[in-house]
Amino acid sequence: MTAANPFHDPVRFERRVSGCALVIFGANGDLTKRKLVPALYRLAYERRLPAGFSIVGNSRTAMGDDEFREKMREATKSFLEDTPFDEDLWREFAAGLFYIAGDLKDPGCYAAIRTKLEELEQSRQTGGNALFYLSTQPSHYATAIGGLGAAGLAKGGNGQWRRIVVEKPFGHDLESARELEREIHKVFAEEQVYRIDHYLGKETVQNILAFRFGNGIFEPLWNRRYVNHVQITAAESIGVEGRGAYYQEAGALRDMIQNHLLQVMATVAMEPPAAFEAQGVRDERAKLLRSIRILKPEEVLANAVSGQYGEGRVGGQVLPGFRQEPGVSPNAQTDTYAAATFFVDNWRWAGVPFYIRSGKRLAKRVTDIAIQFNSAPHAVFSPQARDAAPWSEPNLLVLRVQPEEGISLRFLSKLPGSGMKLRPVTMDFKYGSSFGVRSPAAYETLLIDALTGDATLYTRQDMVEASWQAVHPIMSVWGNTKFDFPNYAAGSWGPKESDDMLARRGHTWRTP
Ligand code: BG6
Repeated sequence: MTAANPFHDPVRFERRVSGCALVIFGANGDLTKRKLVPALYRLAYERRLPAGFSIVGNSRTAMGDDEFREKMREATKSFLEDTPFDEDLWREFAAGLFYIAGDLKDPGCYAAIRTKLEELEQSRQTGGNALFYLSTQPSHYATAIGGLGAAGLAKGGNGQWRRIVVEKPFGHDLESARELEREIHKVFAEEQVYRIDHYLGKETVQNILAFRFGNGIFEPLWNRRYVNHVQITAAESIGVEGRGAYYQEAGALRDMIQNHLLQVMATVAMEPPAAFEAQGVRDERAKLLRSIRILKPEEVLANAVSGQYGEGRVGGQVLPGFRQEPGVSPNAQTDTYAAATFFVDNWRWAGVPFYIRSGKRLAKRVTDIAIQFNSAPHAVFSPQARDAAPWSEPNLLVLRVQPEEGISLRFLSKLPGSGMKLRPVTMDFKYGSSFGVRSPAAYETLLIDALTGDATLYTRQDMVEASWQAVHPIMSVWGNTKFDFPNYAAGSWGPKESDDMLARRGHTWRTP
């Protein structure tokens, strides 16, 4: 076993979590209920957590341990998608759930957390190790970090570890991301910091690396000589789901493209690392993000499209427009849809457009990456050989991130019969049917990673800054542009301007 062999990394593959406690700031929030606690329960179900593993929730809401446990029980039952809810296991799990009400501005809150951690070290053998998870409103991050530092909680004594997970958004622009970084580093050393981007924890996003670097036949084609363009789509059918106030300020470019989709693009386009370990993988991702061409202000409107949904009809049901959603201003200029064309200025990708789009209330929920290859250089078959209109469509490789996880490759085939007729067919790999086991949710993977001290799938400050830099010109031009919103109907595939953006280069969006 050597560290250079990507398949024999003892930390990633054995993943033994030592005794520890997890402290969640923002424990009364949506993420804790929908994602974190259900993910932790599933890890307990799979016996991945150490005996005595403890969770300490904090928020301002007054409640006791029992009320917190009950809330988490209800949430876990309703958000566990594919794991049975086992009452006995829950009792065991809930015995390690605790709650401390307190204001992050109050030093007493950290003192109470400290006392609780000391108590758990004795009563539940947590070894004094702790992972802090920042899941509050982002405007409270700096306060919480300062509070942890002042209370001496950021440093463990005597071989104990302390780490911190920072939820997105990591700043709302380049400057605020740098400011947050300064606050973090006043208190935590870089190796203690885990900046989460849950897309990097998705099985299918990780599989991009396995597909590219575990096989010999794809990588030689993975460049400007063979790839015509790349389309990355993250479409959501849901609207803003009660997050109107947050989303109105954020918008799709900040909420999805700056972080999740640029990370996906980096995974698709990065150079091979020497080994599958944190620094190497992150160095390559960061290098790719830094190679994204920064648009000039006068190029923005031709290379980025902003959209906002209006009322629409889906399956006979009328859906309200964004401006009619609760918490949203009737004049909001928010982008609920964003699309952009990026170029990577390096030898591998020079001149290849990467089209990225994401939006709320689109026709269906789907995230995928489509690599479109160049057409065959010479037409051997006569036009009469075409059987169906799309026969001349070039080879297309689709990496499906969700919901039907898998990979498909489209190519032309001869139709059975005496004549020479061609038709596109698809070779399809489906995760579900090939492996027959459920894939862990992104938060399960990432929590285990942080608990074992593996930052491979976490982002780094240079990556965060490079991706803010890439979207910066778009944000600033959009900020000074008055859009004629709404410009797409709920339930559609987004604004027409997005199709026009691709058409200018002779391309069209696929309908996934
Ligand atoms: C979050 C965004 O980061 O990702 C949400 O804030 C979005 O607006 C969500 O809905 C999408 O995640 P997933 O895993 O459902 O694709």
